[in-house]
Amino acid sequence: MPSYDDEDALRNTEKQLELLPPLVFAGEARALEARLAKAVAGKEFVLQGGDCAESFAHYDADRIRDLLKVMLEMAVILTFSAACPVIKIGRVAGQFAKPRSSPNELYKGKEIPSYRGDSINDISPKIESRRANPERMIQAYHQSSGTLNLLRAFTQGGFADLHKVHRWTHQFVHGSQAHTAYRALAERIAESLAFMEACGVTSNSVAQMRETDFYTSHEALLLNYEECLTRKDSLTQDFYDCSAHMLWLGERTRAHDGAHAQFLRGVENPLGVKCGPSATTDQILMLLDTLNPHNRAGRVTLIIRMGADKIKKTFPQLLKNITREGRKVLWICDPMHGNTRQTKNGYKTRDFKTIMREIETFFAIHSAEGTWPGGVHLEMTGDAVTECLGGARQLVEANLQDRYHTHCDPRLNAEQALETGFLIADLLAKHQKSALYKKAIR
Ligand code: PEP
Ligand code: CO
Repeated sequence: MPSYDDEDALRNTEKQLELLPPLVFAGEARALEARLAKAVAGKEFVLQGGDCAESFAHYDADRIRDLLKVMLEMAVILTFSAACPVIKIGRVAGQFAKPRSSPNELYKGKEIPSYRGDSINDISPKIESRRANPERMIQAYHQSSGTLNLLRAFTQGGFADLHKVHRWTHQFVHGSQAHTAYRALAERIAESLAFMEACGVTSNSVAQMRETDFYTSHEALLLNYEECLTRKDSLTQDFYDCSAHMLWLGERTRAHDGAHAQFLRGVENPLGVKCGPSATTDQILMLLDTLNPHNRAGRVTLIIRMGADKIKKTFPQLLKNITREGRKVLWICDPMHGNTRQTKNGYKTRDFKTIMREIETFFAIHSAEGTWPGGVHLEMTGDAVTECLGGARQLVEANLQDRYHTHCDPRLNAEQALETGFLIADLLAKHQKSALYKKAIR
């Protein structure tokens, strides 16, 4: 949590935020929870993705559309290849506050306060810019509102119609392996749609063919902001944090008696919890007791982010223990945050192969246990950035400087994300055929 030096300004901003309309409706959060409950039962799969940190500087319609496009493409790959409905959740429309390991950082030999995300301070490396400014919360709110509005328009207004499956591709991906594979898949979808149309099933008659649900999520880190957007639902009289459909606790804020968990236990939204390699069974059980005392399926998603090597050592036992305790949780894999490294020339990066290896291991551990690998959580963008190494274009360290735009962690670009989609689709289809899975789903 930042410390604000002007208490009056903070209070004044909080008062303004409290009066602004909620960004989401409680009924939507409940609908998401119901779908997540289906995923707990092995019947749906989560695709959660977006920026590590949204920024005020990179706020434009094309970026929002391009993230949506790549998520729609990935979802269609998964749905078609594995015949599994995909729950699409953006790390978007509110992902503005970042946890930092240290309150200060060194810049050209001088110590300055760390950048904490655009809802708190400014990224430019000057002492004055790094001051926590409460008014930035208002700007974050309005950007979230504009972003969500466009996402709603696209997903409900015809852009997500399955007949447009060819049009979701990005120009810069054309000619790539992933794009060729996607085009082939889109052809097959088009054929299936034509067949269904001949049978009388059209976009006009079936809403699911012309529109889709897209949910929003972010880390509930800046409690000033989250509290101000928390409202009582007039239908149920329950409290919801109406800044997003789903909120998550980060690896650094998941203590069951910490402020963040204590805040989230009081709201009814579906919740995520990041679990790094140091997460113990006892910690997670205490946290589940706090957040989900009635063991409601869909309420808690555990987001495993252990790293491609450490996951082998630490995850199997945690999975066994929590399953043995009968806890209804959804397990999803964040293959990004345990695999960050620094290059010699100072870029934070991640290797595509290592990311894939963590996803594969996550699936293998679930196959061995007969449990459901319920989804993935990715830092990704629809842009042609050069932030993660590898992928079909084999980006190397020298390429990072070309388009390294992230305000925090390195993201998969649209092409790498598409490749990831194909890999996950294969893993998912294989998993569904495994004997243990068939037994569990019965
Ligand atoms: C993040 O998701 O950007 C993040 C900081 O994750 P974690 O809390 O898992 O480190
Ligand atoms: Co991150």
